[in-house]
Amino acid sequence: MSNNLFDFGMIGLGVMGRNLLLNTADHGFSVIGFDKDETKTAALEAAATEGTTVKGVPDLAHMVQQLQRPRKLMMLVPAGKPVDDVIESLLPLVEKGDVIIDGGNSHYTDTLRRVKYLREKDIHFMGVGVSGGEQGARTGPSIMPGGDVEAYGHVKPLLEAISAKVNGEPCVAYLGKEGAGHYVKMVHNGIEYAIMQLISEAYTLLKHAGLNNDELHETFKRWNEGALQSFLVEITADIFLQNDDKTSARLLDVISDKAGSKGTGKWTSQDSMELPVAVPVIDTAVAMRTISGYKDERVKASALYNESGAALNVSTEEWVKQVHDALYFATILSYAQGLAMLYQASKELAMDIPLPEVVSVWRGGCIIRSTLLETFTLAYKQSPDLSNILLDAGVASLVKSAESNTRAVVAQAALSGIPAAAFMSSLAYFDAYRTERMATNLIQAQRDYFGAHTYQRTDISGSFHTEWNH
Ligand code: 6PG
Repeated sequence: MSNNLFDFGMIGLGVMGRNLLLNTADHGFSVIGFDKDETKTAALEAAATEGTTVKGVPDLAHMVQQLQRPRKLMMLVPAGKPVDDVIESLLPLVEKGDVIIDGGNSHYTDTLRRVKYLREKDIHFMGVGVSGGEQGARTGPSIMPGGDVEAYGHVKPLLEAISAKVNGEPCVAYLGKEGAGHYVKMVHNGIEYAIMQLISEAYTLLKHAGLNNDELHETFKRWNEGALQSFLVEITADIFLQNDDKTSARLLDVISDKAGSKGTGKWTSQDSMELPVAVPVIDTAVAMRTISGYKDERVKASALYNESGAALNVSTEEWVKQVHDALYFATILSYAQGLAMLYQASKELAMDIPLPEVVSVWRGGCIIRSTLLETFTLAYKQSPDLSNILLDAGVASLVKSAESNTRAVVAQAALSGIPAAAFMSSLAYFDAYRTERMATNLIQAQRDYFGAHTYQRTDISGSFHTEWNH
């Protein structure tokens, strides 16, 4: 710390803010955090590693005054109005050239608005996605910064120091202009929703074949040692073993099946339709969380339709292999859809999102980190402007290797009436995507028939309308 001034300030000392600040201090930066709640400022100081410089204050002006210029401040507060409130309270305190970072899950349109608002006042505002949960914030998250490059230059060394590392490379890079950081984080979360839904479907498919929690644990643990290696598969293996401290059951078996959400998956779906880009596995994941909330209706429908579907009659060993491949296939499809969305959004919204850097940053620290991201990093190294990773020959061979088992799982799930919407959706997308001539010529004919919307021909250019014989 020079002249007793601090290198970095944090607004909001909830567990994420506190952990990120402690992580920053552990890397040699002097840090100061603000929270109105003095139990949180005390908790921050109490948790500091010996020999690090960490201070907590309950007065915002006091914190801002003690920061080195240009000031580097991050807020980790709930998305929406709290972010605007923090900005308003900071405005009388900051000066030209200072950098304010929103590290929460804000909607990128809010970030765009704030970037413009603060640019008029010569203050840099950056929307930065931070992924990895509480543990990641403490030990090394994946960081997705966007905004103006000059501001990034001020915080680059700090963000690189605190981020997760893969093969010594930091899981942070400049990911584009304006609201790009929060856009990339939104799509990250959409992919997160898709993969979580797929894993939950794999769980039910295996459970229907008779696997108990111990066997599910062993299966996911083994999967995590191979091609499916990922944070989400790893924690799933752990979850099956957790005992309930209130009963003798496994905790998972007494958790309600109503899934919560904070909205970032929904935002991804909504924005995909605006572009438009098709991300049906993400859409399905959002819809399944919604259906999970219809508990009362599902109880009634389950009694009404209880005879739907034939019993699952499979060899367990073969089934486990098939479900493994289906999960592998559909996980690749989920990344493919999310990355295709980023490709399109980057162009449409002029954000210049570098996809090779995005997949590289996602390799470590974040919730969707997986060994597959190494494969995608290689694919983008060869073709940085790939519109869809399914078009990469290396990725194609992985998809093809899992295709027939995916078909077997989807067919069996349909016959047995086991809900597997995300698996079905990934296969449906794949079959449409690889079809040279779809049946949508008929849709064009219908549109022209009832609405004179015109159509294009395969043999002559131009727009045509026909007086259909009716
Ligand atoms: C992350 C997570 C994090 C948060 C999700 C949860 O990358 O660390 O995505 O941001 O856990 O927002 O979202 P839902 O509550 O909507 O499931």
